[in-house]
Amino acid sequence: MRYSFRVLLPVLVLAAPVAALAAERAFPGVGTPMTEAEVKAYDRIIGPEGKELPVGRGIAKEGEAIYIKRCEVCHGVNGENGIVRRLVIGKPGQPFRGNYYEGEQDRMNGPSYYPYPTIAWDYINRAMPVPAPGSLTPNEVYALVAFLYYRNGIIKETDVMDEKTLPKVEMPNRNGFVPAKPVYPPEKKPSWF
Ligand code: HEC
Repeated sequence: MRYSFRVLLPVLVLAAPVAALAAERAFPGVGTPMTEAEVKAYDRIIGPEGKELPVGRGIAKEGEAIYIKRCEVCHGVNGENGIVRRLVIGKPGQPFRGNYYEGEQDRMNGPSYYPYPTIAWDYINRAMPVPAPGSLTPNEVYALVAFLYYRNGIIKETDVMDEKTLPKVEMPNRNGFVPAKPVYPPEKKPSWF
C-alpha cells in the first residue's frame, strides 16, 4: 500500500497539468474571471425594504394585458386554475387570510403568502416568464405585481405601483411567519401567533 502510494503520488503530480490542459480544451473558458457587466447582471436582488427597486411604475390594467400574453398559458385566467402554481387565492377587495397550508399545499401559495411586498417583484423580475426570465422591463414587472396584488385583494385596481408605493403595501400574511432571529425575552403575545 505504502509503496504503491509512493509511486502514485509523483504520477499524480506530473499528470495534474496535463489534466488541467485537457479540461481547458473540453470546457473552454473554465476559470475565466467574470467581467464587471456579468457580475452586474446577477446583482439584482431586491430586499424587503425595496431600496434596490429601479424607477418605474405600473397599474393593474396594464398588468392584465401583459399577464394575458406572457403568463396566462401556465398560470391560468386571472392566476387561478392554471397548469402550474396558482397566483391568486383572494378576491379583489377580499384578501385571503385563512390557513395557507390547508388542503392542497402546493396550490395555496402565491404572492398572497409572501411577508414582504417586494418579493413578488424580485421573483417575477428574475425568474418569470419561465421561457424567457429577465426579459420583462421594470414597468412591466410593476404592472404585473399591481395586477396580481389587485386580484389577490391586496391593493385597489387604480393603485399605482412604483419604487415608492410598492414597499409600503401591507401584505395579508405579514405576521404569519416566525421571526428568523429569536427575540429574548420572548414576547407575551408574539406578533406571528
Ligand atoms: C412556461 C410556464 C410559465 C410561464 C409562462 C410563467 N410562469 Fe410563473 N411559474 C411557473 C412555474 C413552473 C412556477 C413554479 C416554480 C417553482 O416552484 O420553482 C412559477 C412560479 C411563479 C410565481 C411564484 C408562485 C409562488 O407560489 O410563490 C410567480 C409569482 C409567477 N410564477 C409569476 C409569473 C408571471 C407574472 C408570469 C408572466 C410574466 C409567469 N409567471 C409566467 C411557470 C410559468
